[in-house]
Amino acid sequence: NKVAKVLSLSLCLAVSAAAATMAQAKTFKVAVGDAAGGTQHELGKKFNEVLQEKTGGKHDAKLFLNGQLGSEQDTVNDASIGTLDFSILAINNVTPFSPSVGVLTLPYMIQSLDDAITLTQGEVGQQLVENTLRDAGVRIIGWAYSGFRVLTNSKHAVTTPEDLSDVVVRVPKNAIMIDTYKAWGINPTPMAWSETFTALQQGVVDGQDNPYITVYAMKFDEVQNHVTNLRYLFSIEPLIVSEAVFQEQSPEDQQAILEAGQAATEHSAKWLVEQEARIKQELAEKGMQIADPANGEQEWIDLATSKVWPKYFDSIGGKDVLNNVLKTLGRDEI
Ligand code: MLT
Repeated sequence: NKVAKVLSLSLCLAVSAAAATMAQAKTFKVAVGDAAGGTQHELGKKFNEVLQEKTGGKHDAKLFLNGQLGSEQDTVNDASIGTLDFSILAINNVTPFSPSVGVLTLPYMIQSLDDAITLTQGEVGQQLVENTLRDAGVRIIGWAYSGFRVLTNSKHAVTTPEDLSDVVVRVPKNAIMIDTYKAWGINPTPMAWSETFTALQQGVVDGQDNPYITVYAMKFDEVQNHVTNLRYLFSIEPLIVSEAVFQEQSPEDQQAILEAGQAATEHSAKWLVEQEARIKQELAEKGMQIADPANGEQEWIDLATSKVWPKYFDSIGGKDVLNNVLKTLGRDEI
């Protein structure tokens, strides 16, 4: 009898311990701006996989693709007030909430995947994580690397800035990008990402820019036929967590979240290298006509850097911050 009592007591304890663990188990909601098959999706899948591994299956992450949880900029607000757990979105849609992040979206600042990795995973990135936390109440815990944003349009080949004169181009609601197109001589149309496919389809706008992998995942080839290989903006897409949600987690779970974010970041860089050329080729096979900018892109570069950079010295934190970034990339200071 004594044995039976001890057994039933231990059973009770085991059941309540399991119940306590289950009670804490959580499926985090992750907003994803892009469709399946893009770099954001790939980052999110890896994050979920590693999070499950690191928490022994206690926590997982459910991805809501295609802007189902709102426009990318709205998801920053939602995460900031704690009504959304995580979001994966393009860095240009974070800048309005934390202007210093704009240093990553200055035209022609990031010139390669290596530059993107150096900036996001080193001291510059750490400072930007802290600034975003302070300004927007969200913590960047991972980065997707998506490649250069190429320009697509449905009108005609574009190789010089003058060719843009009759093309209505959608841009994110990002002041630096709006000013970049102004430097190239046109007034672009700022619009939320979640509205872009329909606007292209209905001819409200003629063109937009995004990386090859995003163009492919979003099926833009169905509504766009010309591509210009611009290299003005290397797209980086952070995974952010609501700081309010992060602070509710135990130290072990916080660690698991951070490690899953880091593992997903490393995976993203490899995945871009493996996929980008193949996807570009597929888009060409689907009929997209791909052109390089004229004269090694020099006119695009000169206009954008001379007119846009000086306007943003202050908002990114001053010329010293900019020079520190240039130094980190091994470039001449200005
Ligand atoms: C945008 O163009 O608004 C974003 O860069 C799109 C994206 O998140 O892929």
